[in-house]
Amino acid sequence: MSPSDEPAIVTRGLTKRFSSGQVAVDGIDLHVPAGAVYGFLGPNGSGKTTTIRMLLGLVRPTAGEVSVLGAPMPAAAHRVLGPVGALVEGPAFQPYLTGRENLVRMDACDPSADPATRDARLDRALGRVGLGAAAGKRYRQYSLGMKQRLGLAGALLRPRRLLVLDEPTNGLDPQGTREVRHLVRELAGEGTTVLVSSHLLAEIDQVCTHLGIMSAGRLVLQGERASLAEHRTVRVRATVRPHQVQAATSVLTGLGLEQVGVEGDEVVALLGTVDPAAVSAALVHAGLDLLGLQVLAPTLEQVFVELTGEGFDVAR
Ligand SMILES: Nc1ncnc2c1ncn2[C@@H]1O[C@H](COP(=O)(O)OP(=O)(O)OP(=O)(O)O)[C@@H](O)[C@H]1O
Ligand SMILES: [Mg+2]
Repeated sequence: MSPSDEPAIVTRGLTKRFSSGQVAVDGIDLHVPAGAVYGFLGPNGSGKTTTIRMLLGLVRPTAGEVSVLGAPMPAAAHRVLGPVGALVEGPAFQPYLTGRENLVRMDACDPSADPATRDARLDRALGRVGLGAAAGKRYRQYSLGMKQRLGLAGALLRPRRLLVLDEPTNGLDPQGTREVRHLVRELAGEGTTVLVSSHLLAEIDQVCTHLGIMSAGRLVLQGERASLAEHRTVRVRATVRPHQVQAATSVLTGLGLEQVGVEGDEVVALLGTVDPAAVSAALVHAGLDLLGLQVLAPTLEQVFVELTGEGFDVAR
């Protein structure tokens, strides 16, 4: 396998059981191809941050294996993490130092960062996250969004092969959220692999090439963004004359469609593997006036809710 074919992140049976007994991450097999923008989705408490901490060697797995840029973690952390930029919940910044001073400290702690180019790299990173003007302000005076941007700048202090961003848009305003999306696109365009977590699907859906969906510690879906269409539960909606609705219901049931129901003058059902053409032919063949037939692919949000549950309450 050449380095470029090698996946950026692979885990096998990755598991974390906390001392409380809770299994926060339950045997997951992540696969993040090189060059991907991998959207790591899941509701609050589903195990995203714990997974990310294990990827970065910040938390020791209870079981399973992690490989980052081809090297085992956490064993190879010291040599593999140089080209990995990370933003994880609650970065440790000094409150009385300015944003820029904090970055200087951070960069100085990175043995593989060149001090000679530090100033230029810092300016570029601060500019990229829109903190150029606020770089001289003390960290304790930063708003939530400014703190988050500084964390992001920290991840961008030097060119990276892999960026791991845990909820990078947390606390950002809509402009900031959009800028982060642009930034992720731009970085991906430069060849950086990005793993970006979020509990907000819409935020991620627009930029990612791959998706992994967590629910209660398990990875319930993973794959190319485009191929997710196959996992979607496609529905069909047939419009007939009002007095034909019952007959149409029988026809669809007779075809073997599931969850057949009536919405006004329309009959809806799960299409399953049935060809929509067969649905229209059967309705016409039964002597019904088929006024319309729609095939409805659910939004990714519906898929997400379907896989991870409806409830507003955190699962555990
Ligand atoms: N240090 C810890 N000790 C015990 N339990 C923990 C610890 N850290 C996390 N957990 C638990 O593990 C589960 C997963 O937490 P995690 O932070 O990984 O979720 P998340 O998907 O990142 O959620 P969010 O979207 O809210 O950030 C939660 O139930 C949480 O309470
Ligand atoms: Mg989290």
